[in-house]
Amino acid sequence: MKILDGQLVSQATKDELKIKVAQLVAEGKKVPHLAAVLVGNNGASETYVGSKVRTCEEIGFHSTLIRLDESISEFKLLETIEELNNDMDVDGILVQLPLPKHISDEKVINAIHPSKDVDGFHPVSVGKMVQSLPTFIPATPHGIMLMLEHYKINTKGMHAVVIGRSNIVGRPMSILLSANSNPGNCTVTICHSHTKNLREICLQADIIVAALGRPEFVKPDMVKDGAIVIDVGITRVPDATKKRGYALKGDVEFDTVAPKCSWITPVPGGVGPMTIAALMTNTYNACLLKH
Ligand code: GUN
Repeated sequence: MKILDGQLVSQATKDELKIKVAQLVAEGKKVPHLAAVLVGNNGASETYVGSKVRTCEEIGFHSTLIRLDESISEFKLLETIEELNNDMDVDGILVQLPLPKHISDEKVINAIHPSKDVDGFHPVSVGKMVQSLPTFIPATPHGIMLMLEHYKINTKGMHAVVIGRSNIVGRPMSILLSANSNPGNCTVTICHSHTKNLREICLQADIIVAALGRPEFVKPDMVKDGAIVIDVGITRVPDATKKRGYALKGDVEFDTVAPKCSWITPVPGGVGPMTIAALMTNTYNACLLKH
């Protein structure tokens, strides 16, 4: 069993971007600028956005963090996005999800100009991704593809089983793995809460991508020997032995599943850091395309 080390690959990607930014500065060109919008104070969202902003600083990008109260109206949030769309200095806009219930995710995502849609959630970006046209790819699936590429894993002809059909991970992941690309060229099965015989389907998988958000859901009796297992889950589970009061659990029962795998991602240190590296890559590209 070998570890797909997201920390390591992410650092390599960030180091490359750091060099590219230094070149931009040396040539007197514009430095990429990411604007992140955080509504309310969901603990996990605060951590993720904090980490995205810190990474911008680490690489040399400019960043703006806009914190808005939980009670902000949808109209006000849409106005904020319009201001960022019109701000010539801002290259990428990210609105951290989930949003409060009174705000429509759909309206907010649609309001972001596709040229600044570094999350790749806008229907224009999704449509281009489906057609394999150049566009912004959602950060988590993009990060997973970068990791498979880094480890030179040839996925051609493999059966990939994606558990979860969210717009953020499962669905784009299924599209990327089935694309005529490398990595890609997989036969993909996408599973969800209504899937029958999930265990039997998973047992046929050469690659399992677990993205359902249920801690330690994937057990060893669902995984065939030699499979590649990608764990997207990162749930906070109460744990009194930890100083912060919780432990982070993936969607895979790592200790029992890992011995069966050819490759597996750990949690933390697997997909999470790659998501940030992919977002930074998208932001760099947004800047380059614009200037
Ligand atoms: N919430 C969970 N994952 C993501 C992500 O990749 N982007 C945004 N904007 N919100 C998220």
